[in-house]
Amino acid sequence: MSKKIAIDGPAGAGKSTIAKMVAKELGFIYVDTGAMYRAMALYMLNNGIDASESEKISATCQTADITIRHENGAQKVYLNGEDVTELVRKEEVGKMASASSVNGDVRKKLVELQQKLAETTDVVMDGRDIGTVVLPNADLKVFLTASSRVRAERRFKELTEKGTECDIDVIEKDIIERDYRDSHREISPLKQADDAVLVDSSYMTIDEVAEKIISLYKDTKK
Ligand code: DC
Repeated sequence: MSKKIAIDGPAGAGKSTIAKMVAKELGFIYVDTGAMYRAMALYMLNNGIDASESEKISATCQTADITIRHENGAQKVYLNGEDVTELVRKEEVGKMASASSVNGDVRKKLVELQQKLAETTDVVMDGRDIGTVVLPNADLKVFLTASSRVRAERRFKELTEKGTECDIDVIEKDIIERDYRDSHREISPLKQADDAVLVDSSYMTIDEVAEKIISLYKDTKK
């Protein structure tokens, strides 16, 4: 049986950085499910579809071929044969992803793909519904969070370092809005699984969080 670690939590809690470190240390494959929702959102944007057009989103998602490949240890996302790994990181794609991921048909298609990936490979998978829906039998479930202010500060630092001008209050407002949407949608809302361990990274370093998760995983095998 392949091994599975599920890491869920709100945007900006450090899930992907931590999940990558944990996967590397344990020799597992890191699967970023947010990137799949982003690829689907990019497909909608490319087709001129608005976040409010749920019927069009349901119909259009059927023709999106999203695949995940691992090249030199890094995850690449392909949309209908095109490498969109970088493109999906754009702010507007993230916003659309939060809106289009409420759609049941989008979720059904991507959950199937995620479950298939985890069937035969040891994975650290991060997202919003991994412990609750995608991998309910994961060996370890972590709910990773941090306060909205700390998450806004991290994002502000990241953007400022890239030379992008931004306002920390606007970033925090955006984070709060996204959290609300992700955790109040009808299908698979962001929610801590009953058997998940809560890790608040607000006052922890990245290394401390990764060490904590690795030690939690090792404890599951004792
Ligand atoms: O983690 P992220 O910012 O890349 O995710 C983009 C959006 O996709 C996020 O707003 C919520 C959605 N998402 C989801 O609904 N379920 C997942 N398993 C992962 C992401």
